[in-house]
Amino acid sequence: YSRIGIIGAMVEEIELLHEHVEQSSTFVKAGITYVEGTLHGREVVFCKSGVGKVNAAVCTQILIDAGVDCVLFTGVAGALDPKLSIGDIVISTSCLQHDMDCSPLGFARGQIPFQETSEFTADPSLIDLADKACNLLFPGRGIKGKVLSGDQFIASRDVVRQLHEDLNGACTEMEGAALAQVCAMNDVPYVVIRSMSDKADGSADVNFAEFTKEASVNSHRIIDEMIQHM
Ligand code: ADE
Repeated sequence: YSRIGIIGAMVEEIELLHEHVEQSSTFVKAGITYVEGTLHGREVVFCKSGVGKVNAAVCTQILIDAGVDCVLFTGVAGALDPKLSIGDIVISTSCLQHDMDCSPLGFARGQIPFQETSEFTADPSLIDLADKACNLLFPGRGIKGKVLSGDQFIASRDVVRQLHEDLNGACTEMEGAALAQVCAMNDVPYVVIRSMSDKADGSADVNFAEFTKEASVNSHRIIDEMIQHM
């Protein structure tokens, strides 16, 4: 990879990159600021997309148009897999939009109508790099799994059960599948790294406020370790 794109949605998810990237220039497009620079000697472009699938989609396409040859996401998520504790890591094997629902028309939940692929597979070599970084930094605290994205903050045990059992999600967040779809449309490899800020249950709002900073650090550390081996 000669130019690595990195996206976070919120300030907590991206501020550590501001501290560590040797910045050479910035540009603004669609109201989003893109920082170009080097991290461990590698050329990177990173940005704060803002929350939600539309923000993530626009900023992924802009990164690709700016010449990145892979896209990494760093941030936090709500755990769906009961094995996961707050602070644990999910490495995306694929991403699916859980709020895409045309079931009245006979399409499966999550399926984008008239489209061959709705679940977008992450790049195997990026998954492998992330897995190695995770095993080194957080042994026993990371899993590979499906990331479910939707424009909804999930804070209900019933919804968690449904997303885990019906859609087999490991965690839920609000950007990954948009990024993944845009990467697939452009044939650009991606992986999403998420550390759990909450369990998407009745305490999710409180836990999210308390643990987003700490979980963001965990996710950043994985990205930072990965880049040293890319
Ligand atoms: N990001 C972090 N926690 C989340 C949750 N519970 N739902 C959606 N996005 C999240």
